[in-house]
Amino acid sequence: MKIDVVSIFPEYLQPLNLSLVGKAIENGIVDLGVHDLRQWTHDRHRTVDDTPYGGGAGMVMKPEPWGEALDDLAPVGADPDDSTAASGSRPRLLIMTPAGRPFTQRIADELADADHLIVACGRYEGIDARVAEDAATRMQVDEISIGDYVLNGGEAAALVIIEAVVRLLPGVIGNPESLAEESHAAGQDGLLEYPLYTKPQSWRGLDVPDILFSGHHAKIAGWRREQAEALTRRRRPDLLPEISDPPSGPGALHI
Ligand code: ADE
Repeated sequence: MKIDVVSIFPEYLQPLNLSLVGKAIENGIVDLGVHDLRQWTHDRHRTVDDTPYGGGAGMVMKPEPWGEALDDLAPVGADPDDSTAASGSRPRLLIMTPAGRPFTQRIADELADADHLIVACGRYEGIDARVAEDAATRMQVDEISIGDYVLNGGEAAALVIIEAVVRLLPGVIGNPESLAEESHAAGQDGLLEYPLYTKPQSWRGLDVPDILFSGHHAKIAGWRREQAEALTRRRRPDLLPEISDPPSGPGALHI
């Protein structure tokens, strides 16, 4: 998978060279390009922002550097349907913004099938809206939020999304079964993962539940299912289709 990230703070993406994503880059599973948006400016001050039309606080990212960046990273004229072309299949543009579609495991699964992701990290109040509109004429564009809070820019969100996607690529995680069993995985009925224990059997007066020593696989699976359901009901009832009311009253936040 090719991943291009565009930011005015390319150093912010350095952690991608660590750990599993870093190994995926070393092993050639991921071809990562991190680009400074300012390389597509042409003035002495390398300007990437300007005041908003219509007034308002803050600055808006100018469309021209973004347009040129996207022209270079996803050249116009590459046949979008020809997956044998040198450019691969149609790239997907992900624009990081708190006003975007909430990022989920389902979106990560979908993105893991792409050949080429371009991740645009906005700063200031955001990117001129015409950038997304223009890009949509030649690639799939998604505006994505990693949660209902505002960051200073899209870089931290890009780190989150890239990590969530890259760990799904074949060969990145040693035992692919671990992907199937974790919280939010497809096939887990929306349940959070059951509690996990390892050695020692007793620690600070707390014992590992006896059932886990029974050797009875069906009973262990049943216990884990009950635990997952209880945890999900308590902590994330919104994930259970049949329950819609969040917990209320004292203690509701003690999760
Ligand atoms: N940029 C600023 N806040 C963001 C968020 N919550 N998600 C994605 N990009 C952002």
